[in-house]
Amino acid sequence: MIHYDEAHHIFKLDTPNTSYVFGLTDESYPGQIYYGRKIEDTDLGYLLREDERPQPPSVLRREKAGYFDFYPMEYPTGGIGDARESCIGIRTMDGQEGLELRYGSHQIYAGKKPLEGLPATWDENQSCSTLEMVLEDEVTGLRVILSYTAFEDVDVITRSVRVENAGDRSIYLTKVLSACLHVEQEHLEVLTLPGSWSRERQIQRQKLGYGSIVTESIRGISSHQDHPFMALVTENCTQTTGDVYAMNFVYSGNFLAKAMRDQFDQIRMVMGIHPDRFCWKLEPGETFWAPEVVMVYSDEGLGKMTRTFHSLYRRHLIRGYWKDRRRPVLINNWEATYFDFDTEKLLAIAREAAERGIEMLVVDDGWFGHRSNDDSSLGDWQVNESKLPGGFAYLAQEVNKLGMKLGIWLEPEMVSEDSDLYRAHPDWVLRMNGREPGQARAQYVLDLSRPEVAEYVYGMIRDVLSSANIEYVKWDMNRLLSDVGSLTLPSDRQGEILHRYMLAVYGLQERLTKDFPQLLLENCCSGGGRFDPGMLYYSPQIWCSDDTDAIERLSIQEGTQLLYPLSCIGAHVSICPNHGTGRVTPFETRGAVALSGTFGYELDITRLSDEEKNQIPGQTAAYKKYSHLIRNGEYYRIASWRENHLYDCFMVVSEDRTEALCTYVQVLSQINYKSRRIRLQGLDPDAFYSVTGVTLAETSETEDAAAAESSENAAAAGCGNNAGPKRYQGAALMYAGILMPRVMGDFQARLLHIMKI
Ligand code: DGJ
Repeated sequence: MIHYDEAHHIFKLDTPNTSYVFGLTDESYPGQIYYGRKIEDTDLGYLLREDERPQPPSVLRREKAGYFDFYPMEYPTGGIGDARESCIGIRTMDGQEGLELRYGSHQIYAGKKPLEGLPATWDENQSCSTLEMVLEDEVTGLRVILSYTAFEDVDVITRSVRVENAGDRSIYLTKVLSACLHVEQEHLEVLTLPGSWSRERQIQRQKLGYGSIVTESIRGISSHQDHPFMALVTENCTQTTGDVYAMNFVYSGNFLAKAMRDQFDQIRMVMGIHPDRFCWKLEPGETFWAPEVVMVYSDEGLGKMTRTFHSLYRRHLIRGYWKDRRRPVLINNWEATYFDFDTEKLLAIAREAAERGIEMLVVDDGWFGHRSNDDSSLGDWQVNESKLPGGFAYLAQEVNKLGMKLGIWLEPEMVSEDSDLYRAHPDWVLRMNGREPGQARAQYVLDLSRPEVAEYVYGMIRDVLSSANIEYVKWDMNRLLSDVGSLTLPSDRQGEILHRYMLAVYGLQERLTKDFPQLLLENCCSGGGRFDPGMLYYSPQIWCSDDTDAIERLSIQEGTQLLYPLSCIGAHVSICPNHGTGRVTPFETRGAVALSGTFGYELDITRLSDEEKNQIPGQTAAYKKYSHLIRNGEYYRIASWRENHLYDCFMVVSEDRTEALCTYVQVLSQINYKSRRIRLQGLDPDAFYSVTGVTLAETSETEDAAAAESSENAAAAGCGNNAGPKRYQGAALMYAGILMPRVMGDFQARLLHIMKI
């Protein structure tokens, strides 16, 4: 619901439990007033401090430049007195950089319009409402349209910006951020998700003193190192208590998020496309669209924030055929064979996999050109028939005979120096005049800002997919963008390349999902380097990390689950000793950890021991049985190994609170310790439940859900007995807890199935 209080010039956006309020001064400067728990009253203009006198006392009037330095401008501009981080920067043809935006008009309408060329949240029932407020700069004729959508079914406000050049001269946009939030609250910390390749999205909290905290990417991808997310949280914030003001950027390229505490203890947080290496020339009559920011406020800590993001992304971001469908259990040959495979080897894997409930074979890197290592063939997307005679048509036919689907890996944005494509078009890569572009992983980045290059790439993808019954694509991207120059764009448009590149990637994936509507697309970027809401709009799942070690995965998945639903987090069981860490973990634990994602295998099944092979039917059956919970369950984080250094615990609960699955991993064993009391969450306090342990190790030959049912064992949970399931009141399970028995050995996982009786 969005309301405009005409008498007081106040805009108020309400979601079920939150309000976001801003107003206009007498001079029509929009200023932020409030974001937080829902308030009914709209008359909050008194908070704009319009009458507050400046220092020193000798100055009798409120003056513009001084006022702007503390006014909580809804969309701050640079150059006219506000010395804090601004949201928009311009340069006129005269080389001048100031901009003064005043309210011009607004409209409020039901529903939400798409953002041109960009991923964005949507609402097919049009039950949300949108405010578009037009701000105008008298001197340049620039119009800045701030769009806000308030969702009716989830406590989210989304924001985006478009800039129209309504003047008669070209103008350069040097910065267009998408959102700004002001908070006046003591004792705030900033929560971000920094990381690295194979260590993505590690939760970090830092006290916000005077000055700024920044998280940003200038790598051309949202990146492993930083994440387009920032939250202000109160110092006492836990999973269940405290205030959270969060922003997540629906974009996959360079971004900037910054929080700063100013001299008056006001906090400003901004987010948008990184202004570094960004400069967009806007001709008269043209519009620039800036991507969307999702804002979430929670007054019940991080847990509520997480569930809000999950609901939004499940309902209003992820699209397409696979949105609400259980994804097939896959087996990927990367860690099984790397580049060393042929049809025979793949079919041997597929045969053993099919017998154990695995539903799809994915052929990873190395099937094309003459690629037998990292050094060649990207761009030459013809099947290497010496490895795969008969191409994918034959392989798909044989795999389909086993009752499985076939999926393939592609890296369409790249080209190897040793490739026919590069030999024919060395100018098709990002490069600057007179400089040799740098390689990373022996590859160059195709200059997708050139339409003819993007068109070629699409033709190649379409040809491969049309050649056989290919039902899944893993779209990989394995390097940062460097040498950001394009040989065809004019000199004053070189600053547009990075954003044009991103728009081209989005355009390609949009076409792909339209032309192959039932294709299951999984994005990947050397693991989780482009795991963001932008990519999620095109692919319902994203490979979370190249680190497949079950223990390392606990914290990578925890950081990822903080924002993203489990249904979109690519997670696989891999071989031990783990290829990345050398750690040995029980097969059952690897299964339990991968179960909190899209679930699959990344190993040579033909080389597993019988004991391990025999666990696979139980695991695949459990995934099938509990996938409704994994896909749609409300997520509760109970304990974090990252914090306590001993154990990890989280659960998913069905929306109607009748069923839940709890994952517990004892990471490190201790001597002289008793069972551990765990307090469950999210259940109905008045209802009664059974609690049973799910034994993934159970040998089973059947593929259906009944296999997992039979493997449930009350005693295994340590909280029932063999005389029949005990009844536990929800209140008891949540407030008093259950006892997780101490087990011998490190890396021991337990799964509990909780069912209302
Ligand atoms: C990086 C991906 O994250 C891996 O899973 C694998 O597909 C390799 N690329 C292949 O080159």
